[in-house]
Amino acid sequence: MQMSKRKLLKSSILGLGILIAACKTKFLTNNSSIKPTIKKGVNMAFQLPELPYAKNALVPHISENTINFHYGKHHNAYVTNLNNLVAGTDLAEKSLEEVIKISSADKTKAGIFNNSAQVWNHTFYWHSMKPNGGGKPSGEVLKKIEADFGSYENFVTEFKNAGTTQFGSGWAWLVLDNGKLKITKTGNAETPLTTSAKPLMTMDVWEHAYYLDYQNARPNYIDTFLNHLVNWDFVAQNLK
Ligand SMILES: [Fe+2]
Repeated sequence: MQMSKRKLLKSSILGLGILIAACKTKFLTNNSSIKPTIKKGVNMAFQLPELPYAKNALVPHISENTINFHYGKHHNAYVTNLNNLVAGTDLAEKSLEEVIKISSADKTKAGIFNNSAQVWNHTFYWHSMKPNGGGKPSGEVLKKIEADFGSYENFVTEFKNAGTTQFGSGWAWLVLDNGKLKITKTGNAETPLTTSAKPLMTMDVWEHAYYLDYQNARPNYIDTFLNHLVNWDFVAQNLK
């Protein structure tokens, strides 16, 4: 009887621990294509989401060293900065998307916008790639690309152009805008989330994304991204 009570107490403590751990996890987005929606409670910090693959999974196209810096240092720093900036404010209770939208419309919240948008953009970027990805897609995605760009080759030309002509830091995006696929580019932390277009896939063209592996040869990184990394399954999910 004594043992049963102890076991009961032990399992209750364990259960409470699991509940507390679950409550501390505030998922970064309510975009179901990235993460399931989980309601967060009061005073829960934004967290760095796990990568969808191992840190060396994109070798030889993106090195583990790049992932260690890009994900482990840069992405992580945006999460830390965001938590510090919103701590004790109403924004700490909002979802990441809400924080991005509210801060994008308020010039006094530029720091919050930059960090929150960079948290979201990077999470979306990791999911936009996969090992053995890239090349010409198939199925509905290919049909849609051919319908809206004329051909896959035209899509490649336009996407490369967006990536190479984005002056300085930023992003190239494949988006769905009014039912049509379009390619856009944004500077710094800017994101299509603040527009009516729906992001389908993105490529980070900040130097920190490619400099360790490609130095200043951004076009080589873009070629590799298109030929070996694009996660067309993710695009297909987002198109649904
Ligand atoms: Fe980045």
